[in-house]
Amino acid sequence: MTGAQHAGDLHTGSAAEASHADGGPVVVAIDGPAGSGKSSVSRAVARALGFAYLDTGASYRALSWDLLDRGIDPAHPDAVLGALDDFDFRIGTDPDDYFVRVGTTDVTDAIREPRVTGVVSLVARIPEVRRWLNERFRGIMSSTPFAGIVAEGRDITTVVAPDAPVRILLTASEEARMGRRSQELTSESAAAVGEALRSRDKADSRVVDFMNAADGVTTVDSTELDFDQTVAAVVQVVHTQTARTSHGG
Ligand code: DC
Repeated sequence: MTGAQHAGDLHTGSAAEASHADGGPVVVAIDGPAGSGKSSVSRAVARALGFAYLDTGASYRALSWDLLDRGIDPAHPDAVLGALDDFDFRIGTDPDDYFVRVGTTDVTDAIREPRVTGVVSLVARIPEVRRWLNERFRGIMSSTPFAGIVAEGRDITTVVAPDAPVRILLTASEEARMGRRSQELTSESAAAVGEALRSRDKADSRVVDFMNAADGVTTVDSTELDFDQTVAAVVQVVHTQTARTSHGG
């Protein structure tokens, strides 16, 4: 089992060195439902702050892709767990060099295909899979050479990094989320996109609650905000929360 590695390995820089001297990278944990703009916002926030970016959903997707590629039924937990031993994935954490690989295959685009999206909730509901991936996520977060890392998913604020100094729930109304998602996937009708989004959120939210902010988690509602305004709002929360933490509050 080789587990996740990350592309930030070779990154060096004064901000990173300063941060590490201060006791480790700053973790910014961001959760939210599908279509909340989480991935693109998190990546832009990472870029703005000079931080790494970790897309945890991409790892669940990469595992799903690998299962389909190997002809393993994602609905059978025992078969999925057996496949973890040979699951060799690599995810880029430099926001300017994002990629996902399984073995030597670049699956950055393939993991977004509907056939993968259609089975990823089955894979994500297996507790042992979550534990296995969470260990990799924590390893990537603690070893990043960047000054900090923006990690996004569904359970980062609650399970993966509940002690992160910055924890944000990024939400948007269902209508806004569907509108954004159907703009991304122009080949599908808005109704089909809406239905797929709703049913995936329903399945996923049985496993972890990403619709309600846990204690100490700041909600950023992007319904009325455009992309740049959402990024600015999240960056503002990061500044406020890190200032509070460094003053012992
Ligand atoms: O964010 P996304 O759509 O790429 O996530 C893909 C799937 O992975 C989604 O159906 C929920 C699941 N997921 C999860 O259960 N926990 C995470 N931390 C991230 C994603």
